[in-house]
Amino acid sequence: MTRRKKTKIMFVCLGNICRSPLAHAVFDHEAATRGAGDLFETESSGTAAYHEGEPADARMRETALAHGVRIDHRARHLKKADLDNYDLILAMDRANLAGILKLAANPQQREKIRLFRDFDGQAGPDAEVPDPYYGGPEGFEEVFRIADRTCAGLLDQLLNTAENESDK
Ligand code: 4NP
Repeated sequence: MTRRKKTKIMFVCLGNICRSPLAHAVFDHEAATRGAGDLFETESSGTAAYHEGEPADARMRETALAHGVRIDHRARHLKKADLDNYDLILAMDRANLAGILKLAANPQQREKIRLFRDFDGQAGPDAEVPDPYYGGPEGFEEVFRIADRTCAGLLDQLLNTAENESDK
């Protein structure tokens, strides 16, 4: 039996302490729940380096844990090489998207870069994950709901594609 190459996904926000570590952890959790964890390799990072090495924001970790999702990640800065090394690079908001596109050196890299909420079945075009950092607890809950729904949509799409390719 041939072993399928893993799809490598990078989730990106600004600081890599709230939104993208959440999206990363929710995706891993949902993929494992569906028995599809082995199909993916995931990571998250920030377009800014100022929180590098820090754990995720305690408010984000607590919100995730209340929903049964553990975030175990240290912030890291997005690197140019990531644009070659990952298959799909998902920006939490349009400013992140612009920051990532600035790093892109060629069309092959550019076509991997998308807004995360392109996979949210309830969102219109160009929808963003709002930054909860300066707000109250409701903002973290809202980000969780968005990440949960969007990761489900993302997995639906990726697993459909995987099934179609194995039919070929
Ligand atoms: P994130 O949120 O991009 O979702 O990790 C933020 C984290 C830190 C800051 C802003 C947003 N900050 O200004 O330090």
